[in-house]
Amino acid sequence: MEKQINAKKAAVIGCGFVGSAIAFTLMQSRLFTELVLLDANFDKADGEAKDIAHGIPFSGQMKIYAGTYDDVADAAIIIVTAGANQKPEETRLDLVNKNVAVYKSIIPEIAQREFQGILLVVSNPVDILTYAAVKIGGFPEQRVLGSGTVLDTARLKCVLSEHLRVDSRSVHAFIIGEHGDSEIAAWSSANVSGVPVDDFCEMRGHFNHEEAMDEIAEKVKDSAYEIISKKRATYYGIAMAVKRICECIVRDEKSILPISSIQHGNYGMEGIALSMPAVVGMNGVEAHVPVSLDEEEMELLKHSADTLKEVIGSLDLP
Ligand SMILES: NC(=O)c1ccc[n+]([C@@H]2O[C@H](COP(=O)([O-])OP(=O)(O)OC[C@H]3O[C@@H](n4cnc5c(N)ncnc54)[C@H](O)[C@@H]3O)[C@@H](O)[C@H]2O)c1
Repeated sequence: MEKQINAKKAAVIGCGFVGSAIAFTLMQSRLFTELVLLDANFDKADGEAKDIAHGIPFSGQMKIYAGTYDDVADAAIIIVTAGANQKPEETRLDLVNKNVAVYKSIIPEIAQREFQGILLVVSNPVDILTYAAVKIGGFPEQRVLGSGTVLDTARLKCVLSEHLRVDSRSVHAFIIGEHGDSEIAAWSSANVSGVPVDDFCEMRGHFNHEEAMDEIAEKVKDSAYEIISKKRATYYGIAMAVKRICECIVRDEKSILPISSIQHGNYGMEGIALSMPAVVGMNGVEAHVPVSLDEEEMELLKHSADTLKEVIGSLDLP
């Protein structure tokens, strides 16, 4: 018989800056009634669980506690943030060997407990680790997704919203590809409530499209470097991005999010995970959505895919 999952239970593995911010955000979200925190340093998980639990009377009744792998096995969603973070000047791809080793210790613990829920990968490099989690754990691909460029897309919406003086929720634009230096702003499909982005720019008195687009895309790409140099880590934005992904899964929203997942033939990409818009619901990644790209964007996407493929080729994965 297939193991049952508890639809109102989530787990966070890795309770550093990112994991604890996610746990704090999920406590406030009221999406779950049970939240398990796990860290290689049990006291860190226990301390965070106790601190965050003291917010429950201001939010809604639930259980938050530090646990073991036996406690996470029936969760609907396991969020993995364990691993090293970027140091100033380090790229996300620089973390690869350290964090693949961390995943080789974590993922088998989950897989051997016949986990039936959704695995949400957040540790970096997120695309490589999403791919590694599928290969190491042998989970169905649909049930493993990486937070991918959901955060970068939010950053793009923030910057565009300021530039255009419009609500960021009315901005429809995606960052696709690697969550990292080869990511791509998909300008050719960007719009503000259906109005092509260039037309909206002109409505707001901006006519230097090429220059502005390059500047905005660079600013988005460099956000993490800037924040890390100023405060050592980024965590609030990713916590909100993870909450949004959890909402789509728990409520079976079938929203379209640029999560990272294994690609099969989309724009000729094969055997890698990266971000493309996808329908996300209770079963995880339900379908990839073909975003229209111009020739230059396709070329950049190919470069992003090739970069990831080269890294994957250098790893020792099942
Ligand atoms: N995907 C994104 O958009 C995004 C955004 C921000 C950060 N991140 C990534 O999230 C990860 C965590 O960042 P952070 O700032 O929280 O780092 P951190 O150093 O503060 O926390 C990492 C935690 O992982 C724990 N850990 C390490 N190995 C473990 C293991 N085998 N089992 C259980 N726990 C283990 C550590 O004890 C530590 O508490 C990094 O890889 C970072 O690059 C991703």
